[in-house]
Amino acid sequence: MNRKPIFAANWKMNKGPSETEDFIKSFLSKVQGQTFNSEIVVAPPFVSLAKLADLLHTATAVQNAHAIQTAAQNCSQFDSGAYTGEISVLMLREFFVHYVILGHSERRSIYGETDAIINAKLKKAREANIRPIFCIGETLAEREAGKLESVLRTQVTEGLRDLSEKDLSETVLAYEPVWAIGTGVTATSEQAQDAHQFVRSLIAELYGQDTAAKIRIQYGGSVKPNNAAELMACPDIDGALIGGAALEPQSFLDIIRNGTQEA
Ligand code: 13P
Repeated sequence: MNRKPIFAANWKMNKGPSETEDFIKSFLSKVQGQTFNSEIVVAPPFVSLAKLADLLHTATAVQNAHAIQTAAQNCSQFDSGAYTGEISVLMLREFFVHYVILGHSERRSIYGETDAIINAKLKKAREANIRPIFCIGETLAEREAGKLESVLRTQVTEGLRDLSEKDLSETVLAYEPVWAIGTGVTATSEQAQDAHQFVRSLIAELYGQDTAAKIRIQYGGSVKPNNAAELMACPDIDGALIGGAALEPQSFLDIIRNGTQEA
């Protein structure tokens, strides 16, 4: 199965519009004239989405720039109304957002997002034709207690409840072991591959072999230029969701280069 790898920069709460501009200009100048056999996604904070959309639109017109896709880091599970501080999927569409990161462990642990809330957000994203990057992953305590598979099973089953096969074909999964996020401790390629293979088998159980074979599963958690190649060589790893190492254009590009082949 030929799955196009997808490399997404999750900037978290970093880079307002001016830093976004600096990054994108630098990144585009580095990749000018090159094409990769992978999809490249940048997820800035909400306040930088307009600047990003603007820059990419101009760049595409001017220098036929490498197509960077845009992602939001969150969305509301509601359409509109009295939800102070929230952003709806329809608002995101105005910024040409292709993807939205949902179920990130920081949203789960810091903001108390449950599987049910994440499921509602996934449905909203699909209603607006935005592609979810749906994150799952276990804590160290859960892994050490032998609960890796049961945690992943619950997150996948509850998170994807009532989503159709078509929805799944527009969804990317991201396996991010919580203990590897921002810690500098990466899962070994064997640990990552085992988890990815298990997640793919869950999708096969729920949606059939065909959907499972097509869905892309990113790995996230301390991905760096020097470990990207080994991780991406695993048969069930289809790209990366990158935090810290995607804050610098060169480092993000090195991960993409090391983890994929130039077209
Ligand atoms: P780091 O790459 O900084 O470990 O973050 C991973 C992550 O949470 C991406 O969503």
